[in-house]
Amino acid sequence: MACRICGAETREVIDLGLSPPANALKRSPDDGEQTFPLVVEWCSKCHNVQLRDTMSAEELYRDYLYVTPQSETLAAHYDYLLGFLRQKGYIDSSAFVVEPGSNVGLFLRHMQPHVRQVLGVDPARAISQMANDAGIPTLTEFFSPPVAKQVKAEQGPADLVIARHCLAHNPSPHEMVEAARSLIADSGYFVIENAYVLNTVENVEFDQIYHEHMFYYSIHSMSALLQMHGFHLVDVTMSLVHGGSAVFVASPVSKTPQPSVEKYFARERLFFNSSVFDGFAERSKEARDALVALVRALTSEGASVHCYGATAKGNTLLSFAGLTRSDIPYCVDSTPMKQGLFLPGSGIKVIPERYEFDPPDYYLLTAWNYMDEIVRKVRMGGNYQSQFIVPIPFVRIV
Ligand code: TMP
Repeated sequence: MACRICGAETREVIDLGLSPPANALKRSPDDGEQTFPLVVEWCSKCHNVQLRDTMSAEELYRDYLYVTPQSETLAAHYDYLLGFLRQKGYIDSSAFVVEPGSNVGLFLRHMQPHVRQVLGVDPARAISQMANDAGIPTLTEFFSPPVAKQVKAEQGPADLVIARHCLAHNPSPHEMVEAARSLIADSGYFVIENAYVLNTVENVEFDQIYHEHMFYYSIHSMSALLQMHGFHLVDVTMSLVHGGSAVFVASPVSKTPQPSVEKYFARERLFFNSSVFDGFAERSKEARDALVALVRALTSEGASVHCYGATAKGNTLLSFAGLTRSDIPYCVDSTPMKQGLFLPGSGIKVIPERYEFDPPDYYLLTAWNYMDEIVRKVRMGGNYQSQFIVPIPFVRIV
């Protein structure tokens, strides 16, 4: 296929088979559902890693069920990010900040006291309503050139556009980057945060692959994409959220980049010159087989296993592993909109977090990116019995 960033030919990295869209939870476990391929490919020219087949953003996001969790891990990350942006001078108290894919506005709530004005832009109807109700002004729109034009006409140019975990989630990142370019003042910045492909591959995070994750960005591919729209990559920082994420800072005017940019470029050159992609599919299958063997061994001895976190990545994991509600009856999740529904594919029932009665022998941590926080929460809730199965990068019990 062709690279959706530079147009060059791509080659396959991994094929996870057919899977239903990961956030399409069902009203009944027996409801029919469509499945779509999950094939990842790599462009050796600009080093873009992408999903071969993409679903439309309209189909995926208008009735989206993912609500950013109220999480200590994320709150600490927001503080870190805010500190980074302020200390490095990428924002100050006079800034107008726009966040595409702002969900219920948790990050903007952290940002709001430190800047002049914030604006969220999110296409999910129920979710942008929740943001507006919570006092974060949010447009129910996809972030596109016409929307950027409207915002600029009504509120002036933005000093910062920050796209966190959404530039990879759209089949057409060119449109979003173009929109950012037209909205940002020449003195402003465009900041993008996304899961970082080196972490995904090196940590065998094959469960990061689902239909919403259409791109797996590197410094190389992000820099290529930005350049095509007149942006210059000026800084990069890394964080541990969501299995390892990169934060890219771009400017509409040419500036001497921070040393971080060349440092990460150099590391990536080694990575892309190695045969790292060759072993990824094999290592993913080994991790999957070990997980299935463990869960089936435990349940055949009479132990109960529930999932913790009705996550998109959990659905890839379950689907690739072929685990269903006959292996795992329940999945705990804190999101009220998900509770009472059933996971796509596996048909596992989503139940609220509860610690006081009938805990399972094991929780399979499908939200492993919040491991410390969840283990602490379960223990503080008085459950000293359940153990935790961590599936990534190799299956283990903690
Ligand atoms: P995410 O990894 O895509 O952010 O999804 C996390 C999911 O896990 C989300 O549905 C909320 C759920 N969750 C809990 O149920 N309890 C928790 O303590 C946390 C942090 C998340």
